[in-house]
Amino acid sequence: MSRVGGEAIVLGFETSCDETGVGLVRGRTLLADALATSVAEHERFGGVVPEIASRAHLEAMVPTVHRALADAGVRASDVDAVAVTAGPGLTGALLVGLAAAKAYALALDRPLYGVNHLAAHVAVDELQHGKLAEPSMALLVSGGHSSLLLVPDLAHEVQSLGRTIDDAAGEAFDKVARVLGLPFPGGPPIDRAAGEGDPAAIDFPRGLTGPRDAPYDFSFSGLKTAVARWVEARQRAGEPVPVADVAASFQEAVADVLTRKAVRACRDSGVDHLVLGGGVAANSRLRALAEERCAAAGIVLRVPSPRLCTDNGAMVAALGSRLVEAGVAPSALDVGADSSLPIDVVTR
Ligand code: KG4
Ligand code: ZN
Repeated sequence: MSRVGGEAIVLGFETSCDETGVGLVRGRTLLADALATSVAEHERFGGVVPEIASRAHLEAMVPTVHRALADAGVRASDVDAVAVTAGPGLTGALLVGLAAAKAYALALDRPLYGVNHLAAHVAVDELQHGKLAEPSMALLVSGGHSSLLLVPDLAHEVQSLGRTIDDAAGEAFDKVARVLGLPFPGGPPIDRAAGEGDPAAIDFPRGLTGPRDAPYDFSFSGLKTAVARWVEARQRAGEPVPVADVAASFQEAVADVLTRKAVRACRDSGVDHLVLGGGVAANSRLRALAEERCAAAGIVLRVPSPRLCTDNGAMVAALGSRLVEAGVAPSALDVGADSSLPIDVVTR
């Protein structure tokens, strides 16, 4: 493998949901992070429509690759390895990224790494804060996942400690936003509205926090229903809905449960580093509360900038780079998509 300055240039493809991401990294240096999104096309459906996402990936793919190469100032022939999300995600959407990545790997005669999307959310932090402390705990919260992961060795071993048993955290934000008449995706408008509200105004339920509940699993469906019932009761009574207070109280319940469980997992496992990732990690209250509780517990908190928390190609390139560095064997060129790829499979 030809390497510039001893560090491989890795081209990464991400198409598991509605973002077409193409990233380039050299070692742990971010070179380019080109993104196209079909989010506006899903807005009127209130959620991502798989067929629309796949078609949008297909249309956006080649221009996005060209933009990434131009932004990085590298030629395709400079690329040393190709990485692509193989799962979990929407099958049709994953297939578009896999086809593109295979085409580049084959045409350039470079190794291909089919990687796990969740592990890539963890890896992206290395582009901003240097090599991950191992073991680290990772809390990944997005529209598609809510997971608590123990990461003894990002290139080889990632363990699932807990996950949502119903809605993902971001899904709850999206559904509550709908109830409040706020646009999709719901996270950013709820975050903004909450800034004007009182987080203690309404005492919404904290799911799975009882003494006999699974300590690291999450449940947001009861919270979502509680918010909807509360808002409906107001509307039935002909009273105005205090949107800012509902948003702030809902957001507080989510941030409280997520940080409480993440800190507990760190304590129980004797791990003193926590990484946040996924779109919900862009939430201002989650970031602030995580900061506060980690500081109190002596845990070092690492959170990538919001731009890198949401789905992007750089995170896939970052994990690919880590795999190259660790000497992990590449995937076969016929590696397939796995919509429910388990987290303990870092590369397949
Ligand atoms: O990681 P991501 O871009 O895509 C998935 O893999 O799902 O996450 C998107 C999710 C959406 O549900 C969106 O509402 C949520 O992240 N989100 C936020 C914020 N920004 C995005 N949730 C809470 N607060 C935010 N500021
Ligand atoms: Zn994601």
